[in-house]
Amino acid sequence: MIDVQHVSKSFGRVAALVDVSLHVGRGERVAFVGPNGSGKTTLLRALLGLVRVDGRVAVGGVDVAREPETALRQIAYIPQIAPPLEAPVREVVRAWCALRALAEGAVAERAARLGLDLEVAASKRFRDLSGGMKQKLLAAMALAVDAEVLVCDEPTANLDAAARAAFFEQVDERPKGHVVVLCSHRIEEVQKLVDRVIELRDGRVDRDASVAEIFAELRSYRVEVALGPGAARAAEFLRANGFVAIGGGRLGALFTQAEKVEVVARLLRAHEGEIVDLSIYQEGDLREGDRRAAPALRVVR
Ligand SMILES: Nc1ncnc2c1ncn2[C@@H]1O[C@H](COP(=O)(O)OP(=O)(O)OP(=O)(O)O)[C@@H](O)[C@H]1O
Ligand SMILES: [Mg+2]
Repeated sequence: MIDVQHVSKSFGRVAALVDVSLHVGRGERVAFVGPNGSGKTTLLRALLGLVRVDGRVAVGGVDVAREPETALRQIAYIPQIAPPLEAPVREVVRAWCALRALAEGAVAERAARLGLDLEVAASKRFRDLSGGMKQKLLAAMALAVDAEVLVCDEPTANLDAAARAAFFEQVDERPKGHVVVLCSHRIEEVQKLVDRVIELRDGRVDRDASVAEIFAELRSYRVEVALGPGAARAAEFLRANGFVAIGGGRLGALFTQAEKVEVVARLLRAHEGEIVDLSIYQEGDLREGDRRAAPALRVVR
């Protein structure tokens, strides 16, 4: 569905994309991840033909540089940075509905699910909306379009937790054969939504793997805790968070990095007085039954 061949793009001396080639098939859901400035937005803009590049980008077999209008009809796009439109929201929405042949009300319905009341926002200038409101409106406009490809650039960066959940729910409702491409800094957040993760670094594809592979790798910390006598509440907390007895009066569990930080922080906050020893091992350093490896972190009272 999306075919990127040897795409490079420089802005002056900055090489934003360096010989990027990739293919996204029908029905695939892909996240582009990578540090700030790694080229995610430039790559998404290249998919849309919004930036001139060396190499070739085709969507549904249509070259986006040669036939941008035909290519763009298949794509709905949520930009990272909202355009500074002077027009009132009502007119922006009306023009969008006319352009994409949408029924009036289609955008309002999507917006309402994201917690944005279009009736209230209608007379405001688009540029005067808050960051979160702009993002909700742009997301609602894109979600209302029945395009085969949905491209979203950090679509939830300004959204509160409820709106983020409502957004992901609407993305997940898209037909199975449709393509979703999004950029995110939070891989944990999009893991349920995508099946493939492409990591960019300095404008190159550093890694292209299934989400299952990436998470298998992240699951690389082992946390072990020894509790003092009578520490029933701490033991209950640990069991509720996936810990099991590992012998020697200790409880242990494997964690992804993000989970580990959160659970350990909560454990220390609520049950610090009950902990005798807390050690965090890098999984690779700890073979079964091998206690010689030094923990990466040790908290002893
Ligand atoms: N229009 C532009 N003019 C000049 N340089 C640009 C332009 N757009 C992007 N760049 C540069 O290209 C590189 C890649 O930028 P890009 O916006 O694609 O990164 P990104 O991965 O989306 O980052 P972020 O996570 O911050 O959104 C950066 O060094 C950036 O400064
Ligand atoms: Mg970006």
